[in-house]
Amino acid sequence: MNEGKVDFRAVPDDGVTWTLLGTLYLRAWDNRLPHPILGDRYAAEAIERIDYDFAKLKRRVRPGGSQFLVGLRARQLDDWGAAFLARHPDATVLQLGCGLDSRMMRLDPEGALRWFDLDMPQVIDLRRQIYPERGRYRMIGASVTEDGWLEEIPADRPVLVVAEGLLPYLTAADVRRLLGRLTDRFPSGELIFDGLAPWVVRMNKLFQWSPRDGRDVERWNPRLTCAEQVPVTTHRRLIPVRRYRVLYRLLHAVPALRNISVDYRFTF
Ligand SMILES: C[S@@+](CC[C@H](N)C(=O)[O-])C[C@H]1O[C@@H](n2cnc3c(N)ncnc32)[C@H](O)[C@@H]1O
Repeated sequence: MNEGKVDFRAVPDDGVTWTLLGTLYLRAWDNRLPHPILGDRYAAEAIERIDYDFAKLKRRVRPGGSQFLVGLRARQLDDWGAAFLARHPDATVLQLGCGLDSRMMRLDPEGALRWFDLDMPQVIDLRRQIYPERGRYRMIGASVTEDGWLEEIPADRPVLVVAEGLLPYLTAADVRRLLGRLTDRFPSGELIFDGLAPWVVRMNKLFQWSPRDGRDVERWNPRLTCAEQVPVTTHRRLIPVRRYRVLYRLLHAVPALRNISVDYRFTF
């Protein structure tokens, strides 16, 4: 960790990697509201540390509605994660495509858990400048599609695998193989991630895959059971701005729009 400004230009502008700054920025934006959905103060602190043209980023992510999707999605995953960790206080946590997300600080402020955050090597180099590797917390720089890194994660305890904002960027074949590797490695646990509506995947060339529903994943991998699939618009009451609560209520009423962003929880 270094205390000065961190240069984001070291991260490749390949479209996908850059998105981690968009989600971080939107969580910081949420944190500035009087009644934030997620209240991620670490995101706000990280943004302060990064040397980047945030005015340009603001034009690109256009906070004004989309930030609520990011806040609602993360809040549901945090709630599921916290519930799993309350049931399994000795669990291992493996977060894939962590970007600059501060979930380990939100769910494990003392650094007591065996927690592994993985992202591409250039992202982890940047991440190490912002977040300390403390307690039993470790970062791994690798692509999820590569072999090798999974063997670094001990498999002797229940595992919580989190993949937020990652799987839509992978091909169906890569996701299927990844899920198989995870359930081959770990005897039991939960896998929580988010997906997108099929029409959203078709519209954006960066996206490659998303389940139509949890049964798609169960058919691929019979060890995975879909326990919950929750459109993030379900939690629209948490939105602190009335006109957006109304907008999200309308979105929720239309099935194709309700599925814009869905959080999934699988057990195995
Ligand atoms: C939308 S960002 C989400 C970051 C973080 N989970 C969040 O919610 O802020 C997508 C992340 O996935 C990472 N990513 C994409 N493809 C990857 C791969 N093959 N292996 C590891 N990470 C990958 C990117 O580097 C980026 O950090």
